[in-house]
Amino acid sequence: MLKTILLLVLAAAVIGGGIGAVHLMRVAQRNKKEMAPFQGEKIAYTAQLGKALVIYYSRSGHTQDIAQRIQQRTGADLYRIELQEPLSSAPWMYLILKRQLSTGRYPPLQPPLPDVSQYDVVFVGSPIWWYTAATPVLQFLREMDFKNKKVVPFSTQGSNYGTFFEDFAARAKNAQLLKGESFNNLGPQYNDAVDNKITSWLNALP
Ligand SMILES: Cc1cc2nc3c(=O)[nH]c(=O)nc-3n(C[C@H](O)[C@H](O)[C@H](O)COP(=O)(O)O)c2cc1C
Repeated sequence: MLKTILLLVLAAAVIGGGIGAVHLMRVAQRNKKEMAPFQGEKIAYTAQLGKALVIYYSRSGHTQDIAQRIQQRTGADLYRIELQEPLSSAPWMYLILKRQLSTGRYPPLQPPLPDVSQYDVVFVGSPIWWYTAATPVLQFLREMDFKNKKVVPFSTQGSNYGTFFEDFAARAKNAQLLKGESFNNLGPQYNDAVDNKITSWLNALP
């Protein structure tokens, strides 16, 4: 009996590992294809966006990295969304965050909210959590009024941003939404291509 259970567990681990490996290969292929147009010569930054603010939340640094690269080009001010209490670091943290999403009980934020009135354009960056915006960003959108400013959302994710842009649009009060962009987490070999992707996105903004 014990032997059968062990064999079943082993079989499940092998099948699960195989499915995971195939998924990772597919994501790597998709990333390669998506980033191909951004390889090569450095694209010059030509956008004229006026006074910009980049608002972002970041738990593990990826969204902050993109926020800082936007800031380097636009000379924007940065505003990092901060929580009143640190997030759980328990192994079941993913489930805690999923529960926040399903119940709408998002974590309280540290005031004050940024004053957007002095800016021409406001970027808002979020990690993707369970195919939508991270709950600190959802809480931020609950509290924020964009006062008819131009707002540009962006996301960072493993591979699938789900309904982030639709969810963002539905919650961004009094925002004139411009075309957002999403960024998969990529290895250092894509560093320059990510720079080019950001620059061409910004250059195309009205
Ligand atoms: C709770 C949780 C849920 C996640 N859900 C997704 C997802 O649905 N799709 C995806 O591609 N990545 C998902 N990720 C990966 C993050 O979106 C990705 O690592 C992101 O770049 C993290 O940003 P940060 O480093 O700024 O916190 C999830 C990560 C966490 C912690």
